[in-house]
Amino acid sequence: MAGPRILVTGANGQLGFELARSLGALGEVLAADRETLDLARPDAIVAAVRAARPQLIVNAAAYTAVDRAETERDLAFAINGRAPGILAEEARRLGAVLIHYSTDYVFDGAGSTPYREDAPTAPLNAYGESKLAGERAVAAAGGQALVFRTSWVYGLRGSNFLLTIRRLAAERDELRIVADQVGVPNWCRVLAEATVRVAGSGMAALADRAGLYHLSSTGATSWYEFACAIVGGAPRPRVVPITSADYPTPARRPPYGVLATAKFERAFGFALPSWRDALARCLAEPM
Ligand SMILES: NC(=O)c1ccc[n+]([C@@H]2O[C@H](COP(=O)([O-])OP(=O)(O)OC[C@H]3O[C@@H](n4cnc5c(N)ncnc54)[C@H](OP(=O)(O)O)[C@@H]3O)[C@@H](O)[C@H]2O)c1
Repeated sequence: MAGPRILVTGANGQLGFELARSLGALGEVLAADRETLDLARPDAIVAAVRAARPQLIVNAAAYTAVDRAETERDLAFAINGRAPGILAEEARRLGAVLIHYSTDYVFDGAGSTPYREDAPTAPLNAYGESKLAGERAVAAAGGQALVFRTSWVYGLRGSNFLLTIRRLAAERDELRIVADQVGVPNWCRVLAEATVRVAGSGMAALADRAGLYHLSSTGATSWYEFACAIVGGAPRPRVVPITSADYPTPARRPPYGVLATAKFERAFGFALPSWRDALARCLAEPM
């Protein structure tokens, strides 16, 4: 039997690119990038989903420029806050399942133990607020949707911390990196593989497990330690720990964003690798 028809949005993003590649193992993938489906345009979303008639929608598109979102609030809310709700409503109309991604930035980071899915949210910045609005819009649509919160996504393409550190390491003798924000780096390929594994259980099983989950590698680290692991003990550059106060940014970041993943592990029967194992696998890839 042919597999499901799968619409992937944000197919040029870190996660979307990996998903568009790997979901092909399950069914027919319709990969939409910003050119073919602009999530800032509600009418375009409705038209694209009705034309594609997917059984599964995987929404990997997002407005992810955390600092710029402070001044582009309306656009961030259109893409992160409203579009997921429209996708969820269209999915419900079709009887399709929606997989959507959210972020640890829905929390204020005042905690010091891993956040469970039901922990109170209190975003510190416009990006986090817009992503929380998206979670709520998906829930309000009332269809079969799985929302996966994740954190610190990196990969070998696009723009992310790993590529920034690699570039700066080639240019500078010293890197000054924030050591007082704790979280979990997640390789986008590992997130995509987990999504494929979950979706591989079939649309009915997926629909049965609709809900909000934390999807993350295990362990915890700081940006400083993450940078040290990327540089990998080379004598140059020297990596120096600094505080968030030494590196002011337009958007405030939560100091702690580790996500508890027990609910995901119970529901789907597997855990993601530790962030260090995932990073080692990523660094072994040809650039
Ligand atoms: N990156 C992180 O550290 C992080 C952390 C936690 C959670 N997440 C969540 O994880 C998911 C995947 O993130 P990612 O890191 O893969 O993001 P990404 O690399 O920034 O990719 C996002 C994609 O969305 C596309 N996009 C932006 N505006 C759009 C629009 N109006 N219409 C259609 N597409 C649009 C972008 O297109 P262009 O390439 O044209 O800009 C880009 O390809 C998102 O839900 C994100 O919020 C990310």
